[in-house]
Amino acid sequence: MTMTLAQRERRAATAPTGLPRLLAGRPDLAGHLAAFGPLPPVAAEMQAMTARAGLTGRGGAGFPTHRKLEAVAGRRGPRVVVANGTEGEPLSAKDKTLLIQAPHLVLDGLDLAAQAVGASRRVICIERGNQAVYAAVCVALAERRDESVEVVVTPRRYVTGQEAALVDFIDGGPGRPTRERPFERGVGGRPTLVDNVETLAHLALIARFGPEWFRQVGSPGSPGSALITVGGRVDRPGVFEVAMGTPLSSVLQLAQAAPPRAVLLGGYFGRWIPARSARQLTLDAASLSAHGAAVGCGVVAVIDDDSCAVAELARVAAWYAHSSAGQCGACTWGLRDLAAATSALEAGSPDPRVTSDIQRWTAMVKGRGGCRLPDGAVAFLESGMEAFADEIAEHQAGRCRRRDHRLLPTPTPEAWG
Ligand SMILES: Cc1cc2nc3c(=O)[nH]c(=O)nc-3n(C[C@H](O)[C@H](O)[C@H](O)COP(=O)(O)O)c2cc1C
Ligand code: SF4
Repeated sequence: MTMTLAQRERRAATAPTGLPRLLAGRPDLAGHLAAFGPLPPVAAEMQAMTARAGLTGRGGAGFPTHRKLEAVAGRRGPRVVVANGTEGEPLSAKDKTLLIQAPHLVLDGLDLAAQAVGASRRVICIERGNQAVYAAVCVALAERRDESVEVVVTPRRYVTGQEAALVDFIDGGPGRPTRERPFERGVGGRPTLVDNVETLAHLALIARFGPEWFRQVGSPGSPGSALITVGGRVDRPGVFEVAMGTPLSSVLQLAQAAPPRAVLLGGYFGRWIPARSARQLTLDAASLSAHGAAVGCGVVAVIDDDSCAVAELARVAAWYAHSSAGQCGACTWGLRDLAAATSALEAGSPDPRVTSDIQRWTAMVKGRGGCRLPDGAVAFLESGMEAFADEIAEHQAGRCRRRDHRLLPTPTPEAWG
């Protein structure tokens, strides 16, 4: 049964105006239904509605969501949908915030996606150690009296959030990326849709209020809103829901950022943008792609004059090396050598070969991994070497005038079992 035009218009009249949208409701079922109303029976139209809305994935790659729905729906046999709430990116907190504040929106999206692709199995993945997130999801499922959604707790490892790795873990493996493409051969060998939890929550709003409502905020090429985690040197770190296309300067103001020397966009998978270029940017694909950057998973991190960027590059390069799943040579050895060279830079090595080695090795590992982990390291380091060239020269001359050598978090990944 589809909604009539009159029903849809009535629903549109109750739609949240302005922002926040995703964070406009409450965590409990009664509060959620009071804010957003029940889910209308639009599953059959979901692919077309998602295409009209122009929703793109909020997990990092920004792939059009309707194409992922189509790819899985077009396969034969039983299918699976996985909500990716692992959020292993150390700078990101938006998925945890969303799951705590609006678990029903994510679960509505999971149900809709499952109906849209004809999936009988629904799974939600949460990284170990996030007790509040786990509790919020379990309470929400109990409120819905839904015992058929599987809640899978994953190891604390960035790389297990990659979609094929997640499938491997759900199937009882260690959670390493595999060569399989989940939409063809995913959980239990079945075609599987893996979507980020924020993407699914947007789906739940598009189903209720329609694609035109979704496009009322954002830019034509990057419609809708996004959850942005702002961190680094800011007085008010946190998660903010903003319209796509919002000026980066406004986002920095929301978080009361220190005057930035550079801004990291997209987290450790993203790129450093020097402050002089960052001032002009808006958070959408068109503006950021000119700098090789993207909104990605929605992380904005600020580094100021007091912080040693070379120390940050070295620590994150070491984190990348530890994060490798140790399966591909370029990733295992390349990231290890890049970490060693970046550490030598931090230590003040005057040897000019260190910077040329970094340039050579980044070119060598780019595109050479079984998953995109090495590409993330390359983007982070290449953009950092460019943005902080002056400071790197200071280090090579044996000087570092920055006070703070530890700004960004680099948690130790859980050991492989
Ligand atoms: C190393 C690596 C780590 C990733 N970690 C996450 C993650 O923590 N959460 C997430 O949603 N996507 C993560 N992704 C992206 C997923 O592979 C996948 O593209 C995403 O969950 C799809 O959802 P979306 O289309 O809704 O964005 C990661 C990718 C890579 C290469
Ligand atoms: S690139 Fe690294 S993390 Fe990705 S599959 Fe290969 S070894 Fe594993």
